[in-house]
Amino acid sequence: MSKSGPSSTDASRAHAATSRGAFSSSLGVLAATLGSAVGLGNIWKFPSLTGANGGAGFLLIYLLSTLFIGLPLMVAEIAIGRQARANPISALRQLQPRGAPWWLIGVAGMAAAFLIMAFYSEVVAWVFAYVAKALSGNLLSSDPVQTQASFDALVRDPVQALLWQWVVLAFIGGILLLGVTRGIEAATKRLMPLLFLLLVLLGGYSLTLPGAGQALTFLFAPEWHKITPAVVLTAMGLAFFKLSIGMGTMMTYGSYFTAEQNIPATATRVMLADLSVSLLAGMAIFPAVFSFGFQPSAGPSLVFITIPAVFAQMPGGSVLLAAFFLLTAIAATGAMLSLMEVPVVILHERWGLSRPRATLLTLLILGLLGAGCALSQSTLATFQPGGRTLFDWADYLSSNLLLPAGGIAIALFVGWAWGERAFAAQLSNHGQLGNQGLARVVSLLLRWVTPVLILLVMLAGLGVFSGA
Ligand code: TRP
Repeated sequence: MSKSGPSSTDASRAHAATSRGAFSSSLGVLAATLGSAVGLGNIWKFPSLTGANGGAGFLLIYLLSTLFIGLPLMVAEIAIGRQARANPISALRQLQPRGAPWWLIGVAGMAAAFLIMAFYSEVVAWVFAYVAKALSGNLLSSDPVQTQASFDALVRDPVQALLWQWVVLAFIGGILLLGVTRGIEAATKRLMPLLFLLLVLLGGYSLTLPGAGQALTFLFAPEWHKITPAVVLTAMGLAFFKLSIGMGTMMTYGSYFTAEQNIPATATRVMLADLSVSLLAGMAIFPAVFSFGFQPSAGPSLVFITIPAVFAQMPGGSVLLAAFFLLTAIAATGAMLSLMEVPVVILHERWGLSRPRATLLTLLILGLLGAGCALSQSTLATFQPGGRTLFDWADYLSSNLLLPAGGIAIALFVGWAWGERAFAAQLSNHGQLGNQGLARVVSLLLRWVTPVLILLVMLAGLGVFSGA
């Protein structure tokens, strides 16, 4: 097939991308992909959403969404990226049938990346602030009123909220500008097991608290009447968010995958590891919720108010508390870097900006957008168009609208436009792995099931069927 003009330019740009960087080993691929998946989604979003949406029923829908929607889409995105070896826009332009504007998915993805980072960076800011405050010792308390007051004092202070966000942006910018991404990858690889260990310890301890039984019931015995369409949509949105899919992150990372990497096996491992980190976070938090009289529906503050209460019971609590938030900060940094990679690589490869300039521009835009989220509980607290603060809008729109819509588009692209043969070739490493049967199944899912399912959940969740 002959290539049109723009496509060959894309191909040469893609070539430039290949020579720019790639993950060097199988373990590196796994660590980086896991580094993107594991972040605040596990430690902060998962517990607060599970708590706010009634527990076990939500968890079950989340699990189903992860398996039947998230996993196939993650495989699809990585396959697209590895085939094209380019940023999402160039990748889709290169693979799309002539004249069909599938590359717009990449543009929407870039917008989604900014929206997510705008509020994500503020939550990272709270985590950074907690590292500092934990060391002073005055965060520790098993009195719910007091831990909530400490959290409120932070988020309701516009100066602290903004300054900590700038610290985060400067920190991330520094990492990228110094080109120590590799260093961060190496650090993540070593420190993630530590976070895991600390969570096991914390979870184990929490399960000895008097409220543990109640917590387990809350997490694992569904109350079916609590599962509303809105709850289902939120659970599906969480599955997208946690696996970093629907906006091009996994496409971008896929473009750095080695040719030998087994894509479905890697995606499955990442999904399982990501899931266990979330469950551990749940085990650490919910027993404390029920033991000390917190509300499971506390929302975004949940982690910040319960974890200090658990550590307050332990010797050396303030050091452990600081360590917990430090490790969380590191996990969040890895995820944030993967979010940033999408606009940065697009600005670099398509707009011809140097990587440092692309990084600075991204941070600048983020500083402006992020301020709206940072101030949403102080200066802008009363600015709630449509009943939500800017922070809540950024969070809601990205997970419940943009990521699922991106997911539909990606599923349709792979199922209908790209072609099963090319997809199967990526999944089986051109016939070297026995994944052909699997490719067939995933392809059929992406063609008929995934997009319809996402659409139905979205429409129901947004109240279209109930006329709300
Ligand atoms: N998955 C990350 C987390 O759980 C966040 C994240 C990184 C993300 N890259 C993404 C979310 C892309 C959506 C899309 O914290």
